[in-house]
Amino acid sequence: MSTPRIYLDNAATTPMDAEVVDLMAETMRQCYGNPSSIHFLGRETRILIEKARKTMAALLGCAPSELFFTSGGTESDNMICRYLVEQGEVQRIISSKLEHHAITHTLENLAHLRGIRVDWVKHDSRGVLDLEDLESLLAQDQGSSHRTLVTLMHGNNELGNLLDIARVSALCQSYQAFFHSDTVQTVGHVPLNLQELGIHSISGSAHKFYGPKGVGFIYLRGGHSWGPLIQGGSQERNMRGGTENLAGIVGMARALEKAIHSMDERRARMVSLRERLRRGLVEVIPDLDFNGDWSGSCLPHILSLSFPPHPKGEMLLINLDIEGVCASGGSACSSGAQSRSHVMEALGMHPDRTAVRFSLGSKNTEEEMDQVVQILQKIWHQA
Ligand SMILES: Cc1ncc(COP(=O)(O)O)c(C=O)c1O
Repeated sequence: MSTPRIYLDNAATTPMDAEVVDLMAETMRQCYGNPSSIHFLGRETRILIEKARKTMAALLGCAPSELFFTSGGTESDNMICRYLVEQGEVQRIISSKLEHHAITHTLENLAHLRGIRVDWVKHDSRGVLDLEDLESLLAQDQGSSHRTLVTLMHGNNELGNLLDIARVSALCQSYQAFFHSDTVQTVGHVPLNLQELGIHSISGSAHKFYGPKGVGFIYLRGGHSWGPLIQGGSQERNMRGGTENLAGIVGMARALEKAIHSMDERRARMVSLRERLRRGLVEVIPDLDFNGDWSGSCLPHILSLSFPPHPKGEMLLINLDIEGVCASGGSACSSGAQSRSHVMEALGMHPDRTAVRFSLGSKNTEEEMDQVVQILQKIWHQA
């Protein structure tokens, strides 16, 4: 029997939708003008970019002028935090130790280089943020001449936990704080209406919703142009110099359209597949735990497991890989490495336990869930 290939690393990246690939290939073949050129080939590509912006804005519930295209989630997160500090808008930032490194490393850097004060919101052992603690941190600012930036992710990439961003947004509004949310894991997966949420900014990345890698966006309420962070041309209303990634932008808009239209049906499938996998694993692995708020408010496609101490614990991901199963041990950037992730560290996971994240996608099947259970049973009991 040949080794199966089971892809359960969709939170790291998703396989591209075939129709999006075709659309991008066609765009690259046919539309090569520089969107800043005034001739008709340039105007044609400019129209495609603005059409993509309009499509995405309608899907996200915002104005086209509030969306800025970037190279992905990391750039978008960096851009927002750095901008606010560079513009002298904020001198204090509130965040969480459970954020992606695109945020935590940026904040550590801003604290080091710019003397920004960073406060971390408390969380419990499931990684659920303490919103009372957030409120008491916000209350410390009253009377300050500077605004505080609150940056808290919507869906945690390692745990799947979902934050009540409407509640955080309302809290930030009552303390006049700027609220940014890294929504890289939730755009295209969870309903988002930016107009209703009243949030100031979000970041998104196309490769997390079956689109291309290397393209993403920022939503910025009111669509301010703060002046360029990347110096050069006046692209993206002077926010980000550089010739636009035309095919990427066109592909991202189409991928978002498809992801949002299939969201409800996909969600129901993910919930059922994830539960099948979870129940199957509980039956074959003794003392298995699940990380995060998996039975509460969470993304339907992420299941983070905590395996008990075992001779094969250290090599679990490699053994899964040998058996044809792609999973992650930490966040995407450290996948493959069995080093403990900063999130598991912050949750205080016992050092002898091993964390594995399975993240499901639209192509997974019930048979695959059953196969993964069998494979893990074999690895576990063969030691
Ligand atoms: C929550 C979160 N934020 C940011 C990023 C970075 O996105 P990108 O890969 O587009 O730079 C990721 C990618 O794993 C993520 O999961």
